[in-house]
Amino acid sequence: MVISKEKQTLLSKIATSDQHGENSPYFDGWKAYDQDPFHPTENPDGVIQMGLAENQLSHDLIEKWIMENPESSICTNEGLHLFKDIANFQDYHGMPEFRKAIATFMGKARGSRVTFDPDRIVMGGGATGASESLMFCLADPGDGFLVPTPYYPAFDRDLRWRTGMQLVPVVCTSSNNFKITKQALETAYKNAIESNIKIKGLIIANPSNPLGTTMDKETLKTLMRFINDKDIHLVCDEIYAATVFNTPDFISISEVLQEMERDPTIQINPELVHIIYSLSKDMGLPGFRVGILYSYNDGVVSSARKMSSFGLISTQTQHFLASILSDEVFVESFLSENSRRLAKRHKVFTQGLEEDGITCLASNAALYVWMDLRSLLKKPTFDEEMKLWRLIINDVKLNVSPGSSFRCEEPGWFRVCFANIDEQTVQIALNRIHIFVKKGKENEAMATKKKRNKPWSKDLRLTFSSRFYDETMMMSPRIMSPHSPFALSPLVQARN
Ligand SMILES: Cc1ncc(COP(=O)(O)O)c(C=O)c1O
Repeated sequence: MVISKEKQTLLSKIATSDQHGENSPYFDGWKAYDQDPFHPTENPDGVIQMGLAENQLSHDLIEKWIMENPESSICTNEGLHLFKDIANFQDYHGMPEFRKAIATFMGKARGSRVTFDPDRIVMGGGATGASESLMFCLADPGDGFLVPTPYYPAFDRDLRWRTGMQLVPVVCTSSNNFKITKQALETAYKNAIESNIKIKGLIIANPSNPLGTTMDKETLKTLMRFINDKDIHLVCDEIYAATVFNTPDFISISEVLQEMERDPTIQINPELVHIIYSLSKDMGLPGFRVGILYSYNDGVVSSARKMSSFGLISTQTQHFLASILSDEVFVESFLSENSRRLAKRHKVFTQGLEEDGITCLASNAALYVWMDLRSLLKKPTFDEEMKLWRLIINDVKLNVSPGSSFRCEEPGWFRVCFANIDEQTVQIALNRIHIFVKKGKENEAMATKKKRNKPWSKDLRLTFSSRFYDETMMMSPRIMSPHSPFALSPLVQARN
């Protein structure tokens, strides 16, 4: 919806500013999907949503637990006797059993190598709400937070929009697999100071969004030394802590803090460290809006708790989660089965891409891959990246997210989510990519041939037509397999 200029003057500066960051291809891709969503039978040529970092692989495990534990819900005969208490009770500290259960779960999600104090748990409306509250506690308008690139696009909205703080990129590149270095941190810090930006902290997402990688201990120690040296905050968004499906294991900042605190040769201040967590990814419950701010700073806990009145988690949700998360046997088996399923999906998807010569940054975590399409760009520019992105969304009909929306400094990288769709849809997506690459190669060969004949003819590398998506003509072997679930797909039936 576009708000007219005259009407805008009636609204606040915050409401009309463009600092929400939603004018980005990351969000545009979602709109393209909404207008033409793929459905296996009703809209088989629609856009497949691969821009949504959602874990839909393990809902059945939670559904089964719900069926077996009807007393965990106040909407069943078994649980209804708690209805009155739960409907009335609303304390911004959170229900004690919920805080205890989530603190224990946070420890489990970090390999049980650290423990969390339930009294430091502050609730928020998802990680989104929790991280904004934290920014309100740490930064005044204009203050800066360093953030390594590429970074989660919604940080611009969640952290910056309403608080007025600013994000200051720390440039990371593929030359060292986008690892953050001391040198890059120092450069960004120095540049910010020279531009009169007061740096109040550093924010990282570990595991990374969009890279799907985890940080090693040495890097985390480097960050810890850096922030202590500068006396600034370190905010670690660990929303994917248990969404790790391959080695190396995830190392939480809490573990590094614990280790460094024990080391008599180093002086570190735990009050500078804050963790953002949520159940949106690790339990696949983004609709529940369960966000957690865990701070080692008493002042932050106290202020953020007052602010949490604006984004509490409903007591019905707290009650349910306290029950399920306290079932330790279930939690153990859920976490390991979920990792197993993610590992399998990741393998299927990356191997499928590799068959077409497409590589991704090696990753061990999260719900997406960081796909390298640099070789498909005519020139290494963001204009070319956008051209390729439009082609992928309009012709290949896949909503993937271009690297520029993550403030990546190198054109040609794309984030592709693989856990929000079913197996069948993954195969269709891979098949579309297969056709795209094949057609691209054919066009390139044709262009080279033409060039040889007419040396002045234009490079045709990106001039595909959507007509080449005649999926029956170009079915890849994986789809044509008699064992493929697609043998029965209406798409195939209609055309056979
Ligand atoms: C790194 C990161 N932080 C925060 C969020 C927001 O999570 P929530 O749904 O809990 O608000 C996301 C969601 O994609 C994310 O990837």
